[in-house]
Amino acid sequence: MIKKKGRRRMWNSVVVLLIAAALFLAVGAEDPYLYFTWKVSYGTAAPLGVPQRVILVDGQFPGPNINSTTNNNIVINVFNELDEPFLFSWNGIQQRKNSWQDGVAGTNCPIQPGKNFTYHFQVKDQIGSFYYFPSLGMQKAVGGFGGLRVNSRLLIPVPFDPPADDFTVLINDWYAKDHKSLANALDGGRGIGVPVGVLINGKNRGDSPLFTMEAGKVYRYRVCNTGTKASLNFRIQGHVLKLVEMEGSHTVQNAYASLDLHLGQCLSVLVEADQAPADYYVVASSRFLKKELTATAIVRYAGSNGAPPAPEALPKAPVGWAWSLNQWRSFRWNLTASAARPNPQGSYHYGSIDIARTIRLSSSRAAAATSKKRFALNGVSHVDSATPLKLAEYFSVDGVFKYNLIGDVPPPPASSPITLAPNVIKIEHRSFVEIILENPEKSMQAYHLDGYAFFLVGMGPGKWSEASRKHYNLMDAVSKHSVQVFPGSWSAIMASFDNVGMWNLRSEVWERRYLGQQLYISIGNLEESLRDEYNVPENAIICGGAVGRPLPALYT
Ligand SMILES: *[C@@H]1O[C@H](CO)[C@@H](O)[C@H](O)[C@H]1NC(C)=O
Ligand SMILES: *[C@@H]1O[C@H](CO)[C@@H](O)[C@H](O)[C@H]1NC(C)=O
Ligand SMILES: *[C@@H]1O[C@H](CO)[C@@H](O)[C@H](O)[C@H]1NC(C)=O
Repeated sequence: MIKKKGRRRMWNSVVVLLIAAALFLAVGAEDPYLYFTWKVSYGTAAPLGVPQRVILVDGQFPGPNINSTTNNNIVINVFNELDEPFLFSWNGIQQRKNSWQDGVAGTNCPIQPGKNFTYHFQVKDQIGSFYYFPSLGMQKAVGGFGGLRVNSRLLIPVPFDPPADDFTVLINDWYAKDHKSLANALDGGRGIGVPVGVLINGKNRGDSPLFTMEAGKVYRYRVCNTGTKASLNFRIQGHVLKLVEMEGSHTVQNAYASLDLHLGQCLSVLVEADQAPADYYVVASSRFLKKELTATAIVRYAGSNGAPPAPEALPKAPVGWAWSLNQWRSFRWNLTASAARPNPQGSYHYGSIDIARTIRLSSSRAAAATSKKRFALNGVSHVDSATPLKLAEYFSVDGVFKYNLIGDVPPPPASSPITLAPNVIKIEHRSFVEIILENPEKSMQAYHLDGYAFFLVGMGPGKWSEASRKHYNLMDAVSKHSVQVFPGSWSAIMASFDNVGMWNLRSEVWERRYLGQQLYISIGNLEESLRDEYNVPENAIICGGAVGRPLPALYT
């Protein structure tokens, strides 16, 4: 028989051995790395017939696809060859504990012209279809974006057979104006009007086939709306779109003739090549604009003669936003499909978690009396600071911003003036929060939240009230990162705020974002633990008031 003391000692050494083994496994099984070196430069393209300046990534417009797998480490050394500062952000990549890599003005100092910065992040516990884009100014309106795909790991079953091929389709509206002239117009208090065209993978009319399908096979199309203003409808002439994934969640596999993608949204459909071998139109067209704008591309069946389809064969777009709202109601998360999930605890049972806090955010614009056009959330129109908010918080740089200038309830409309300031709210780490996005205006609105996937539980016309919760989907709402808000309507999202960092919540209507309709959510690292948040990266660019500041005590 072992004496008490001896037994404890034995257990201690077992624990030490177990920890050592776990460390060994963690190191030995390190996730694979994908390395990229990208030049970001200007180039010329004429997507609407008139040559104009666009932003190229690695010489391409749109930029190259990143083809990654769950938990891969992605290392991208970005060389800025533009004549102005630059940052990439990664739409839908959650950057767990790592808002240092989020690449927005509130988290990162920009890469100055002629300089480079190496992003290093892990696509931790995620699967699905995402994209990257330039986050500063109006650069996104002239390119600089590309697809980012996260494949499931081999051992994790995917709820459909492997497709014959996997295509990336980036659809976006287009102003056919230089990004600097768009920014100048907005700086001068003028509008930028409406887009004048729509593109599919950088082209308005694709003459050579975009993709080739073999009769009888099934293909995955990953479609993202990377645009700046318009919701878009996507369809393929004569073919059924079977929805399988949306912004990182496997969905119930409903069939659609066409799908609306609002700004910032991505989805995957399976398309069976079950028609007579020929050429077919792939169509993206604007929704809710006065004049419908359309882009077409061709998908060809292998071995067909390649005769162009008759123009009258172009499938028509749906009409009105009630259609779109109803379509959204049909989207459901497939609860039985296995997949990597960033927040496995509670993901199935979000409907039974107590709501710790409700934040209502209402979109508003500066009253006509003010000289300049500005857009706001709960009365504050965000302005970027010379010291990124995340750095100001981390290095304790005073005077950069104040927390919680806005309240959880919007001020009465019209009466209150709009304040220009960095808009930062604090949310308690790990609290479960409901955010109501209210759109009292007449135009379509869309938002994106960095750092998280949320449950999009409800949407409806009119004013939100507590009674609106009766109509929430508390069972199988799709977990996603972007949400549309219809005119005169609200949308409700819920998230467990378990990712420490500084996270951008922004209008995806790029002119609105540029003019202040965005905010940052600070989730504090209260325990000041590297378990909850990574240290500032060694290669981080330091600027503004953070220059020369000592590292916080914890990290020195
Ligand atoms: C993308 O990655 C997957 C998994 O490694 C691989 O099977 C596939 O061939 C890749 N596709 C492309 C286009 O590189
Ligand atoms: C810039 O690129 C060089 C390699 O050309 C690399 O050694 C360096 O770390 C990069 N700088 C940053 C800030 O990532
Ligand atoms: C959900 O996923 C499961 C598991 O992969 C699959 O068998 C099922 O068909 C999917 N359900 C629907 C409705 O798409």
